[in-house]
Order: sequence, then structure tokens, then C-alpha cells
Amino acid sequence: QLNGQGQGALSGVHALITAGPTREPLDPVRYLSNHSSGRQGYAIAAALAAQGADVTLVSGPVALAPPRGVTLVKIETARQMLKACEDALPADVFISVAAVADWRPARAATKKLKIKATDAEAPAMELAENPDILKTLSNKRKNRPRLVIGFAAETHDVEDYARAKLARKGCDWIVANDVSGDVMGGAENEVVLITHDQSERWPRMGKEEVATRLARKIAAELGGDDG
Ligand code: CTP
Ligand code: CA
Repeated sequence: QLNGQGQGALSGVHALITAGPTREPLDPVRYLSNHSSGRQGYAIAAALAAQGADVTLVSGPVALAPPRGVTLVKIETARQMLKACEDALPADVFISVAAVADWRPARAATKKLKIKATDAEAPAMELAENPDILKTLSNKRKNRPRLVIGFAAETHDVEDYARAKLARKGCDWIVANDVSGDVMGGAENEVVLITHDQSERWPRMGKEEVATRLARKIAAELGGDDG
């Protein structure tokens, strides 16, 4: 909180954030996932809390401590993440930073699969599509957060792809992450903030600084609506 008085530009605002990867079980010991560290999402949660927001952070498995003053909801699968987000509504702003697995094994076995013992050839893994959490919350008729922000990592034609994602998901802003250079897995990010009518390329900066700057943008946007 700013000036230690429980005040801040985002005081009274409920912010819902997803971060980290999801983990999709194949059996009790195996899963599908990705390399998301959760670092950018956790930094955004911390920055919003520092501005006085009431923050709910729905997180997949990561090796990070929850930021001070943030309500952490730990989940593993995309379906659990969607349920946790819906349970946390209403929220004023939703920021979808998680690297949600697009697919999950169609069936999760309750016992460890004995692959070597039973199959002579490589077994086929049937996949089922996961829910799109960003799209689902963007398209809510009741309880849609006032401001819905998605993330997109792109290596080329960053603005075009991000703008297409903005339209497809129905969100208000997309933070497009330009991963064409050497930012992948690092401490810095190079982003373009895309809204319906403009785009803003930010200089390369630390993930914490991206978070602070985004928190300021969010405060300006939400403050503009109802003072
Ligand atoms: N997202 C989500 N639920 C999913 C997939 C993605 O909420 N099942 C969100 C991410 O959190 C991110 C945005 O959608 O904010 C874009 O994710 P991304 O993976 O870049 O886009 P996709 O639409 O999944 O397309 P692709 O992976 O093919 O680029
Ligand atoms: Ca995806």
C-alpha cells in the first residue's frame, strides 16, 4: 500500500490474475505442462497490491513465494484454474498471464500406466481441448470484469497476431510479448500494449518494471470510469 495508510490508486479494486503453467495429468505420476515460471504474473500481482488493490492470484505450480498481501489460490489443471477464477468473481479487472495448456490427455488414468510392459509400439495419446479461461471470462454476460487483459507471446508479426487474438478472445487489452530476441526465460521483457484503438511499444525493461507500468495503466483506466 502506498504511504502505509491502506490508500493507493487501486484501493477498493478487486484484481484477479492467473499465472504460471497448468499441469494436465496423464496418470498419477505423469503430466503435460510448459516452462512458464510465473514470474511476470507474480510481479503484476505484487504491483497491483502495492497500489492498494485487493488481489486474487490463481496460480499453477511455480517455485515462487506469493507476494505480500495477495490471496493465493493454487491449482494444477486448466479446468481447476477456470473454476477458481469463476469462484473469485466478481472482479474489476482480470489479467490472464497464465500459460494455460491448450490440450490435456483425454483421460487421466487412476493407476500408473504400464507402458513398457504392455505396449510394443509407441502408444497414441488422445487429447481433449481445455477451456479458454480468458475467452470465457471476456464473454461473460453477468459478472464480466470491467477490464479484461490477455497476454500473447509472439516471435514475429507481433502486432498483427496480437490484434487478432484481442478480437478472438473478446478482451480489452493484449500485452504482446515480443520474444524474437533473447527475452525468453530471462528477467526482462519487450512488450507492446494493444488496445482496440491503439498500440504502444514499451522499451525493453525488467518484468517488475513491466508490472509497475501496467499497474499504473490499469489504475488510470479504472479510475477514469468511476473516479
Ligand atoms: N489463455 C487462456 N486459456 C487457454 C489458453 C490461453 O486463458 N486455454 C489465455 C492466456 O492466459 C493468454 C491468452 O489466452 O492471456 C493468449 O494465450 P496464447 O497461448 O498466446 O494464445 P492461444 O489462443 O492459446 O493461441 P496459440 O497458443 O495457438 O498462440
Ligand atoms: Ca496457447
